[in-house]
Amino acid sequence: MADILTVENLALGFRTEGGLARVLDCVNLTVRPGEIVSLVGESGCGKSTLASAILGTLPRGLAVVGQGSVTLDGADMLRAGAAAGKVRGRTVTFVPQDPFASFNPLFRVGTQIMDLMRWKSPRRREGSWFYSPRRRRADREAVIAMLEAVQLPQPARLLQKYPHELSGGQRQRLMIAMALLPEPRLIIADEPTTALDVTVQAQILGVLRRLAVQRGVAVLFTTHDLGAAWEICDRVTVMYAGQTAEIAPRDSFFTAPHHPYTRLLLRSLPEEGRDPVGIPGSVPSPLSPPLGCRFHPRCPRADARCQAERPVLRGEADHLAACHHPVLAAQEARLDA
Ligand SMILES: Nc1ncnc2c1ncn2[C@@H]1O[C@H](COP(=O)(O)OP(=O)(O)OP(=O)(O)O)[C@@H](O)[C@H]1O
Ligand code: SF4
Ligand SMILES: [Mg+2]
Repeated sequence: MADILTVENLALGFRTEGGLARVLDCVNLTVRPGEIVSLVGESGCGKSTLASAILGTLPRGLAVVGQGSVTLDGADMLRAGAAAGKVRGRTVTFVPQDPFASFNPLFRVGTQIMDLMRWKSPRRREGSWFYSPRRRRADREAVIAMLEAVQLPQPARLLQKYPHELSGGQRQRLMIAMALLPEPRLIIADEPTTALDVTVQAQILGVLRRLAVQRGVAVLFTTHDLGAAWEICDRVTVMYAGQTAEIAPRDSFFTAPHHPYTRLLLRSLPEEGRDPVGIPGSVPSPLSPPLGCRFHPRCPRADARCQAERPVLRGEADHLAACHHPVLAAQEARLDA
């Protein structure tokens, strides 16, 4: 089946006072229909920038696309302004990190959801601006059913409330409901649970996964938290400093990572019986990124080729790594150097 989302060799930067910040450098990513993909990377590696590129919301005048393409349900999201607008909010919806910022504090939650339904409801006929009482009733019923599905109690009463009267967890459940209501093919959830405490985080990831699977909606879930990725996804894509490092199905990613950065990232997690091992060095600035593989100044396997030549993604079947010297199963024994 064709991918719902394909990002191919995307390179882009932002104009800044200090020069061009080369934020994404040859990024590749695919999401298949109904699949949940985690995009994992440390703060500043470019997750939100990639999400904006996919949504077609890069800041105009500041963002400079060097090369590559973003194709979402057949639409070229980098270049087709009007077509991208049509896709956004319908075919693809968005769950942000901070749901509070997405609500207008002056209006009741119900008013804001019904406004969304007016324009993005699947019952709306293309091009029609008339909101008939019949469609409004059907949309309201769909809203109530969706609030129940995301386990928000007393949905009719909740719609009467203002955003500040809800907890952080309730607001995020509401965002998930609003992302599902237009019946999209893809939801982009950009660190949707980072601001929540661990128990609420796990509940919300559970709700998102269950509803996405039930309804066959694909999800691109960005996170810096490998534990959250493990909870929710079918496949993982790892980025380091704006470059794709590794793409793999969840199980083979966690049991046999190929990329030196990914391996170090996994070893930096706390585990019973051993102390976490940090990654030496620091993430480079996008204003002066290293040539070749951007991980080379910190990589124990780096050589002259890594400094000169950007590695391309390669591997077997579904497990790919962008590395000149990936750690493959036969080399496992020698890896722990
Ligand atoms: N409009 C902009 N102008 C200049 N630089 C930007 C702009 N937006 C993002 N950047 C830079 O791009 C890099 C990637 O930022 P981005 O927000 O995409 O990272 P992220 O992976 O989402 O990080 P986090 O986990 O902290 O949300 C950072 O170095 C950031 O400073
Ligand atoms: S390409 Fe070289 S520097 Fe980059 S991760 Fe692989 S071995 Fe390390
Ligand atoms: Mg971000």
